[in-house]
Amino acid sequence: MEIRLAKTAGFCFGVNRAVKLTYQLLDEGRKVATLGPLIHNPQVVDDLQKRGALTCSDVDDVPDGYEVVIRSHGVPETVYDKIQTRGLVFHDATCPFVAKIHKIAAEAGKNGAVLLVAGDRTHPEVEGIVGHATGPVVVFAGLSELEAWASENEPQKSIYAVAQTTFRVESWEACKSFLKKWCTNPKIFDTICSATWTRQQEAEDLSQKCDHMVIIGGHHSSNTQKLLQVAARHTDAVSIETAAELDKNWLRGAKVVGVTAGASTPSSIIEEVLNCMSEEIRDDMSFAEMLEASEA
Ligand code: F3S
Repeated sequence: MEIRLAKTAGFCFGVNRAVKLTYQLLDEGRKVATLGPLIHNPQVVDDLQKRGALTCSDVDDVPDGYEVVIRSHGVPETVYDKIQTRGLVFHDATCPFVAKIHKIAAEAGKNGAVLLVAGDRTHPEVEGIVGHATGPVVVFAGLSELEAWASENEPQKSIYAVAQTTFRVESWEACKSFLKKWCTNPKIFDTICSATWTRQQEAEDLSQKCDHMVIIGGHHSSNTQKLLQVAARHTDAVSIETAAELDKNWLRGAKVVGVTAGASTPSSIIEEVLNCMSEEIRDDMSFAEMLEASEA
C-alpha cells in the first residue's frame, strides 16, 4: 500500500497564528480565556485546558483577571463592545482573511447595499461576519437557497456578495454565475481563503488517484467536512479525528491511500495517523510473505 500525503495537510496560517499566540501567553504565565474552543480540534483544546486556559462561551463568563483571546473565526462587533465595557485585556487572533470580510460587511450597509453571505449561518465565522454588517444581510447555504431568496425578491440595485472563507469552491462559483445573471453589477468578493482553495484543489486531485482517502480533522470542523465532501465525489473517503478512529480493515487491499487534513489539525495527529497506517503496510507485507511461504 502506498500512502500519499497532501502537501497542504494541516494547520493553515490563521489557525497556526491563533494557537501560537495562545501558547505563548500561557508560557508567559498569563491567565487566558478563549471565546469558544480556540480551534475545531478537541485534542488541542484539551491540551490548552490542561495548561490552564479557560474556554468561555460569552464575555460575561470570563473571570476577572483573565485575558481574552479572540479566535481566528472572529466575533461580532458587539463582543468587542462587551470586552471594552468590562475593561478586559484582549488579544485579537481574528484571521486577516476574516477581518477583510468584516470590513466589506460594514461597507456594504454604509453604501446602501444588501450583503449576501454564502455560508453556514450557525458557524461562528458567519455569525461574526453578520455581526459586522451595518445594513440588510441575507445568509444562504448554497445555490438553491440563493435562488429561493431571489425568487421572492426583486433584483436588488446594489448587492455585495461574500463567502465564508471555508465555503465549497464549486458551490461558490455556481452562486456567482447566478448572481451575475440575476442583477446588474453585483459587487462580488472572492473571500474563500487561499488555504481553503489549495486544500480543496489538492483533495480533488489526490482523491482521483487513490483507492481510499483519509481526511483527518475535527468532526465539527467546517473545512475538514468540505474536504471530505470533495474527496467523496471521486473515491471512498472517511474523516477521522485521531488515529484511534482509523479502521484498518477498511484499508486492507487498497493500493494507494491519500491522506489530507483540515486546517485545524496539528501535525502531531497527522503523524500519529501516518504511523498507524505504516503499521498496516508492515502487516500487508507480512501477509504477502506468508502467502509466498505457503505457495513455496
Ligand atoms: Fe484564515 Fe483561511 Fe485559515 S481564513 S483561519 S487562513 S482557513
